[in-house]
Amino acid sequence: MASTLLTNIRIASMTENGNPFGELDASSLRMADGKITELGNSLKPKAADTVVDGKGAWCLPGFVDCHTHLVYGGSRANEFSQRLAGVSYETISQQGGGIKSTVRATRDASESQLFETAMRRGRRLVEEGVTTMEIKSGYGLDLQNECRMLDIAQRVADALGIHVQRTFLGAHALPPDSSLSADEYIDLVCEEMLPFVTKNNLADAVDVFCESVGFTLAQTERVFKVAKDCGLKIKAHVEQLSDSKGALLAARYGAVSVDHVEYLAPGDVPALAKAGTVAVLLPGAFYYLKEKQLPPVQALRDHNVPLAVSTDINPGTSPIASLLTCANMSSVLFGLTTEEALKGITVNAAKALSLFNKGTIAKGADADLCLWQISSPDELIYEINGFRPYAKWIGGKLHGKS
Ligand code: NIG
Ligand code: FE
Repeated sequence: MASTLLTNIRIASMTENGNPFGELDASSLRMADGKITELGNSLKPKAADTVVDGKGAWCLPGFVDCHTHLVYGGSRANEFSQRLAGVSYETISQQGGGIKSTVRATRDASESQLFETAMRRGRRLVEEGVTTMEIKSGYGLDLQNECRMLDIAQRVADALGIHVQRTFLGAHALPPDSSLSADEYIDLVCEEMLPFVTKNNLADAVDVFCESVGFTLAQTERVFKVAKDCGLKIKAHVEQLSDSKGALLAARYGAVSVDHVEYLAPGDVPALAKAGTVAVLLPGAFYYLKEKQLPPVQALRDHNVPLAVSTDINPGTSPIASLLTCANMSSVLFGLTTEEALKGITVNAAKALSLFNKGTIAKGADADLCLWQISSPDELIYEINGFRPYAKWIGGKLHGKS
């Protein structure tokens, strides 16, 4: 069986072992059959090995972008200008803009337009070291268009040669130009869309926008119930603009992650810890919306809730195709250490997708790795747009040119 031996590297495993960045006492690793099979200081080449001399480079797990809205039509640059002039995100949304305007543009876009624009953004993420990403639907808001988004997400995964986890976000907003009440639309999500998505294996997880401009707690709970019956993982946009108690509800349903969480009450943090739910911080949306409310990072740390960081790439609140930039923002704006920021885009981001074989370097883990010419991993958080991996393996295979 063909294998690859990487020698002369420093390995940041990103797992807790007492060393900064989880550095391992190993200067070489072997990958075979998609996995990391050996780690050590004096691994000797075997006949089947392709040997790569890392020349002292740092080896990190491939990055995981665990919350993206990568597939969408149109642009919301006009709303960006409105917001700069002082109009709030909520007001724009109430006036029929916001998510609804992207839904119209997504429905109007051709298959190839949606694919090509998602690829343009996806390539940017991948060239910076992302080897796994989550992609949500949520700009179709009817069965046909939601499924179209999920199909395109899979095509993007295949074309980029990365691992993609798909999340059904039918409960993102009320569809534009629809006469349905919010409750009636949730009926449609629960009775028609979710069963179809499950039956056709179109998604691994379900997400809901639980917010004053999204769906109420009761509506969110209805979606969670059906998602659970369908065997889908639960994720939720909660506490982004107000404390709606969505995180508590999500924890009750065993959610894998709660995302945004700026308005999360510190008193609600223990419930997340108990449920093993990851808190996904999205500093891009905080930055673009010029939010003031900081997520309760210290309370989350105190209760050992894993902190992940993601781009939330979307046309409204976070048009940022750079996970490392968002990791930098998580440090500068939210106070994460450089190590927490890097864990946030590796091991904890993988946890936010329940992918426990990714985001870390260990025997038996998936061989998704990048080599970086840096003197220490914290340089990746310190500089913005400073580095690209110079070599990358996904599932043990050398990936593209970097
Ligand atoms: O994660 N909060 C809801 N969803 C997105 C924004 C979507 C949009 O404005 O198009 C978010 O911020
Ligand atoms: Fe989002």
